[in-house]
Amino acid sequence: MMRLLTTFISLLLAAPISAFFRLHPVTPSSPPRVLVIGGTGVIGRAVARQFKHRGANVVVASRNSPYSVDIENPMSLSRLAQYFPSGVDHIVVTAGHDEPGSLGEFSQQKWQRALKLNLLSVSDMVLVLLQGRPNILRPGGSITITSGQAPRKASMDMPATAVNNAGLEAFVRSAGLDLPNKFRLNCVSPTLVAETALRTNQALTGTISADAVANFYVDLVYGNQTGQVVHATAPKE
Ligand SMILES: NC(=O)c1ccc[n+]([C@@H]2O[C@H](COP(=O)([O-])OP(=O)(O)OC[C@H]3O[C@@H](n4cnc5c(N)ncnc54)[C@H](OP(=O)(O)O)[C@@H]3O)[C@@H](O)[C@H]2O)c1
Repeated sequence: MMRLLTTFISLLLAAPISAFFRLHPVTPSSPPRVLVIGGTGVIGRAVARQFKHRGANVVVASRNSPYSVDIENPMSLSRLAQYFPSGVDHIVVTAGHDEPGSLGEFSQQKWQRALKLNLLSVSDMVLVLLQGRPNILRPGGSITITSGQAPRKASMDMPATAVNNAGLEAFVRSAGLDLPNKFRLNCVSPTLVAETALRTNQALTGTISADAVANFYVDLVYGNQTGQVVHATAPKE
């Protein structure tokens, strides 16, 4: 009995604590693994490209990707996590949906749905990721989400987008200040992207390319800031 107890204690002392609590080690994997949720969209594709350019191991996920995830459904995040038992170093969220229209065009249900699709889903997902449910983000890792310039450009046609963006930015500024496990939380707030403007027949004045927007994510992910909202706008001429 005594021998059994001694063996157990020596095992306990010898094993790293991560083995007991299923924590990922603090050292980032090499190359760093970056999960881009929404990585098949206009901004997400450019983000994935820029990280690959810099040698990262990039995983693209979205509802219709082979690595399928739905930000409205936290269970899908748990399924995704099973593919990465050693976790990921950084998560970039460019998944989102804008519900355009003036307030008069919204029913109460449509309004709630618009906020659920973005503000609630994204903040909820960040919450469960930071709490380790699932345990996919390695200690020292970062989450970078996406808002937009709508709160700063009053427009009759974008009340839902403005509320979503303003809410997400406020969330990051507050929640990002004190996170466990040396996690970091930041946000990129792009102006209208040129590729989107072209696709939707809007003027290109003041737009920014998706690749230029992607560089803002790279800087935040590889920096040491947390609680920051960075405006990705075109340089003034
Ligand atoms: N493009 C711009 O000019 C611009 C400017 C400022 C801000 N933003 C914001 O940036 C975000 C991305 O914009 P974008 O232009 O890149 O959009 P996009 O081209 O429409 O791409 C959206 C991406 O999100 C994924 N997605 C949508 N709903 C999802 C869900 N429920 N779960 C998981 N993935 C989901 C889509 O893939 P699946 O369909 O396969 O899921 C796709 O990969 C949006 O929130 C938008 O408001 C865009």
